Amino acid sequence: MEKYYFTYNDIHRTVRSLAERVVQTGFAPDLTVAIGTGGFIPARMLKTFLKKPILAVGIAYYDDQNRATEYPHTIQWIDEAQRKIRGKKILLIDEVDDSRVTLEYCIRELLRHEPAEIAVAVLHNKKKEKRGSIPPEVKIYLAGADLEDKWVCYPWDAIDIDAQEASAAGK
Ligand code: G4P
Ligand code: MG
Repeated sequence: MEKYYFTYNDIHRTVRSLAERVVQTGFAPDLTVAIGTGGFIPARMLKTFLKKPILAVGIAYYDDQNRATEYPHTIQWIDEAQRKIRGKKILLIDEVDDSRVTLEYCIRELLRHEPAEIAVAVLHNKKKEKRGSIPPEVKIYLAGADLEDKWVCYPWDAIDIDAQEASAAGK
């Protein structure tokens, strides 16, 4: 198989098991931070289990003229971030840990606001050499599944959801 295909139901099950594993670690987040746009839907699904508010951030590799930039940069951040994050336990959520560069960037930005703790939960981690690294302040890192380094097709990117489901079923 060249690519991975997942249905919303697959994602739901992964999110549910991730939520259970967050609880098992004993880490009780005060709030979650979703990295958009890929992290938005997983973060909302996780909220069904963890019942904590979601703050959204946007991080991009592209500038406003859609040209690729060398490093990720912030396109949307949290209003009054210092007040909302300082001293809080944050669960950072994204869909895929690929190069890890965006994750590292986002963790470093959050650390500037002096959270009590940051834990990271991603749906999928690609097993590959990473360009970014998870800073040592982060004690908990959970991935719903470890995947080979192939492109992952998420249901929210599908134009034809029936074709997505058929591909996910191996048809
Ligand atoms: P990382 O730190 O989380 O590893 O992310 P990285 O910067 O390497 O990823 C750059 C972009 O590529 C991210 O989205 C990420 O979601 C996306 N990406 C990487 N691998 C895959 C994949 O296998 N499938 C899909 N669908 N996306 C992947 P972005 O372009 O920055 O933003 P957005 O698409 O989340 O809005
Ligand atoms: Mg993406």
